[in-house]
Amino acid sequence: MNSSDTSATAFSTLIRTASHDAHTEAETTTFMSDMLGGRLGVDAYARYTEQLWFVYEALESGAQRLADDPVAGPFLRPELLRLAALERDLAHLRGAGWRSTLAALPATKAYAARVADCARTWPGGYVAHHYTRYLGDLSGGQIIRDKAERTWGFSRKGDGVRFYVFEGITNPAAFKRGYREMLDRVRVDDLEKQRIVAECKRAFALNTAVFRALGDEFPLSA
Ligand code: HEM
Repeated sequence: MNSSDTSATAFSTLIRTASHDAHTEAETTTFMSDMLGGRLGVDAYARYTEQLWFVYEALESGAQRLADDPVAGPFLRPELLRLAALERDLAHLRGAGWRSTLAALPATKAYAARVADCARTWPGGYVAHHYTRYLGDLSGGQIIRDKAERTWGFSRKGDGVRFYVFEGITNPAAFKRGYREMLDRVRVDDLEKQRIVAECKRAFALNTAVFRALGDEFPLSA
């Protein structure tokens, strides 16, 4: 069987396999490596968290219009919503006036605009962005949380890392299995599946571009 044969491969497998290289690229950017290596200050983490706010604002405000959509609707689960948690983290990281200094990098603006665009015009594309962020947060996100707690002394699962804590998901592994089953049941044809996979790769590339921009802003003094 050819691994790119859309009809014979479960869609969840297809999308994971197809985005594997893009995942490695995002994961190994200088910024991510420096962050996970404990080499960056808390200001870099705060700046990163600010960028996430713009992405989740686009994902979650755009979701409302998709609630009844047959393709994207089933993925919209309230226990995934991250914006409120991000706002608590930002209040902790930046203080009560966090909104007044919030600023998106150009790469973040481009990412959020693409998400908003998909939410408005293309439910399948929205699913690609939804998968890329939320399944990632439930997976590698937990590694980032652990590292952030150790590096900057946030209390375990407390203020500063609430974004990574899914209070409504007691069993992330089971949730991810259910999510993959939803991907496998998604009601689109093979061509649309290929388009969704391509959008997923684009979503990873948009993340990588944000990390590169953050890496430029927070270079390590050698
Ligand atoms: C240093 C950062 C990262 C680490 C250490 C990491 C680690 C991981 C690990 C260990 C898994 C597998 C979990 C499992 O099989 O259940 C995973 C899955 C995933 N990650 Fe990451 N990741 C990182 C960054 C990212 C980024 C930046 C994104 C995209 C924005 C992302 C998106 C995903 C997705 C979508 C999955 C689910 C794959 C699937 O099962 O379909 N990850 N990550």
